[in-house]
Amino acid sequence: MSNALAVVNCAQVVTLAGPPRPRIAAELSELEIIEDGAMLVRGGQVEKVGSRREIESLVDKDTEVVDAERRIILPGFVDAHAHPVFAGTRANEFEERASGSTYQEIAARGGGIQSTVRATREATLDQLVQVGRRYADWFLRCGTTTIEAKSGYGLTVEDELKILLAIRRLNDETPLNFVPTFLGAHDVPPEYRSRRDQYVSLLIEEMIPRVAQEKLAEYCDVFCEEKVFTSDESWKILSAARCHGLGLRMHADQLSLSGGAKLAAELNTVTADHLEHTDAGGIAALKSARVQPVLLPGSVYALGSSRYPAAREMIEAGLAVVLATDFNPGSSPTPSMLMILSLASTHMRMSPAESITAATINAAYSLNRGGAIGSLEAGKRADFVIHDCADYRELAYFFGIEHPWRVYAEGRLILTRNQSATDERR
Ligand code: NIG
Ligand code: FE
Repeated sequence: MSNALAVVNCAQVVTLAGPPRPRIAAELSELEIIEDGAMLVRGGQVEKVGSRREIESLVDKDTEVVDAERRIILPGFVDAHAHPVFAGTRANEFEERASGSTYQEIAARGGGIQSTVRATREATLDQLVQVGRRYADWFLRCGTTTIEAKSGYGLTVEDELKILLAIRRLNDETPLNFVPTFLGAHDVPPEYRSRRDQYVSLLIEEMIPRVAQEKLAEYCDVFCEEKVFTSDESWKILSAARCHGLGLRMHADQLSLSGGAKLAAELNTVTADHLEHTDAGGIAALKSARVQPVLLPGSVYALGSSRYPAAREMIEAGLAVVLATDFNPGSSPTPSMLMILSLASTHMRMSPAESITAATINAAYSLNRGGAIGSLEAGKRADFVIHDCADYRELAYFFGIEHPWRVYAEGRLILTRNQSATDERR
């Protein structure tokens, strides 16, 4: 049978094989690595992983054989929290923060999310797709094959739908997989500041029903935070979203302890994201409701804060921790899960193995795709990356470089790293 691909001569096949559910506690460290392994792919799916000899015995004349030359293979990263569709950048605010202004001060004077909202409202759907392609390329280059993608820089019916349509097109037109989330509750737009209850009604009565009816999103998210959406408002918005069949996620306790984690537990959301200020009570609540925490150290780093979320306590409490980039133009302008792995080890005391589990299989479960992606097991989609190192720990250890050597989506090669500049055969 044609259409088969064998990747052989891998120093490590990091399979993440295991029970069909998110991994907790000590399971986060179990990567199920096959040393000197290989993998057979057919019809866009993983057919078998095993020893080099086992896989080579299955190779026939129609099988394309890729020699990994002692590199490692991993499933593509799954980035479960990103805001990748926006116009413009906020390099100016980045510069202001470098000279002492805070994220909240900039937001209070009309910058921050609002400045991206202004630029995004002005952009056409085609323009958003065009800039989105550039970022999709970045994610793939960094070894990510699936991302969650939030709207949230439109904040009108029309502009939120425009962003979700851009996400749909990017999903159809690029090799990156997008899981769309409606985040109309990212901020109260300026025209509603003196009548915020009307914006909440607009979200509940118009936006959420439209988004659900047109199947433009799988999830609904709310930025629950002092001065953004209160717990009470968040509860109303997320309850409405649930009635319309959307899954629930929540930005919780990012800038202050505002009861976000507890509310997420009460509402039984799929995830509670950020959690930089969550206390022991919040962690216990998440545990009892089996909410998955999505930790975003990129935003802590880029905001110059040192308040990282309490990952160790969460792992010890038995939470199925996820790591993500939070890619966005303000608080976390990085698409690199590799950078996130580095931060998780240097600032959150997560081991490289725990971080990889949080960035693949656990992230996949948080997006309701644990059965399809996030590990290299028979029957799963062949989204995988050959990284240019011989030991998985190097992914988190050498930081600031792109490790991926070859990136595959559904068994198809979509990205190759250029030849070495120092190779003496050149
Ligand atoms: O996750 N917290 C809210 N939203 C983003 C920031 C968005 C922005 O600054 O544009 C976040 O950090
Ligand atoms: Fe975010």
